[in-house]
Amino acid sequence: MRIILVGYGVVGKSVATILARRYADRVKDYGYYGYGFNPKIVAIADIDGAVINPRGLSPEKLEQIKQRGYPISADPDFGKPGMPVLDVIEQVEAEVVVEVTPVNIKNGEPAISHITKAFKTGKHVVTTNKGPLALAMPALTELAEYNNVYLRFSGTVGGGTPMLEFAKRCLAGDKILGIKGILNGTTNYILTEMSQNRITFQDALATAQKLGYAEREPSMDIDGFDTACKTVILANWIMNRKVTLKDVDRTGIRDVTLEMLDDAAKRGNTIKLIGAIDGDVPTVKPTEIAKTNPMCVSGVLNAVTFSTEYAAEQTLIGRGAGGIETAGAVLRDLLDIRHKLATKLLE
Ligand SMILES: NC(=O)c1ccc[n+]([C@@H]2O[C@H](COP(=O)([O-])OP(=O)(O)OC[C@H]3O[C@@H](n4cnc5c(N)ncnc54)[C@H](OP(=O)(O)O)[C@@H]3O)[C@@H](O)[C@H]2O)c1
Repeated sequence: MRIILVGYGVVGKSVATILARRYADRVKDYGYYGYGFNPKIVAIADIDGAVINPRGLSPEKLEQIKQRGYPISADPDFGKPGMPVLDVIEQVEAEVVVEVTPVNIKNGEPAISHITKAFKTGKHVVTTNKGPLALAMPALTELAEYNNVYLRFSGTVGGGTPMLEFAKRCLAGDKILGIKGILNGTTNYILTEMSQNRITFQDALATAQKLGYAEREPSMDIDGFDTACKTVILANWIMNRKVTLKDVDRTGIRDVTLEMLDDAAKRGNTIKLIGAIDGDVPTVKPTEIAKTNPMCVSGVLNAVTFSTEYAAEQTLIGRGAGGIETAGAVLRDLLDIRHKLATKLLE
């Protein structure tokens, strides 16, 4: 499986690292899904240019170039300074594009262009980027089908925690009636700090920023956009809805006060930012839940509860982010595509 990696930041570097590590292990550690899986990164493209080697690239060498303060395209042997990402996707022979550029919820770019170019040149796509999916998931899944390629995005919801696969595969045959989740670690950290240490929203946000859990411009998290993007992905992928970000009824956590948390505590409850798909309209809003609810996790943890017809409520808890965790989700998606292609050949 030849791979073009687009974006070489926290997630991109982790993907290169774990694929190199796994490449050494080859087939034996992949189990059922991985028989014959042989991944090779043949190109990496970022904003400054690309590095291309059809025989496979070494992350150690690229790391040395980065550490010396140069872009990866400065590689003396395989670098292509200034080569546009779209040209790399079009010209390099590969089976899969892994798209891990920064999220943009205004127009989804540059990721939407990267993904559509990959589809049109017959390449499967694995992405951890919520932007394109939140804005255009129904159109992108249709375009993938039309071009007879796969689009996978396990790392967009729950980081490394396999929330999408759990619902899709482990609950196969059951009917999922509703989904509720704490899908954003930053807001969960802030609400946990407020309720446990009795500090104000502003103080909790400042601590989260100091610890690197919140951005300097925190709106994406605290105004609920990140949770809304993930809710859209769950709604489309798990519950067959055709919704985008504008369809979500969204309220963030800016107006949650200590008094509200104290009142909730008197009832044995607390307040969490919950993304939910249980009525006609997907919602994101601060919601009172019982402290004994299995979904009521602390700190930066994420949790999701699937309400099902037969298995009742199933809750999955895990880390919602992290470079290596999210790269693990990319590897899962690559294995899924590998498995799908192998079984297609047998049909
Ligand atoms: N980090 C996590 O824990 C996590 C978890 C789940 C999902 N995600 C998602 O995964 C994606 C990547 O996250 P990250 O943390 O790896 O971000 P990051 O560290 O900011 O890396 C982004 C990479 O994309 C490159 N880039 C920026 N603009 C580009 C463009 N126009 N064309 C090509 N490359 C471009 C950047 O290059 P420069 O460095 O030169 O700008 C950088 O190499 C994001 O969409 C994020 O939301 C991240």
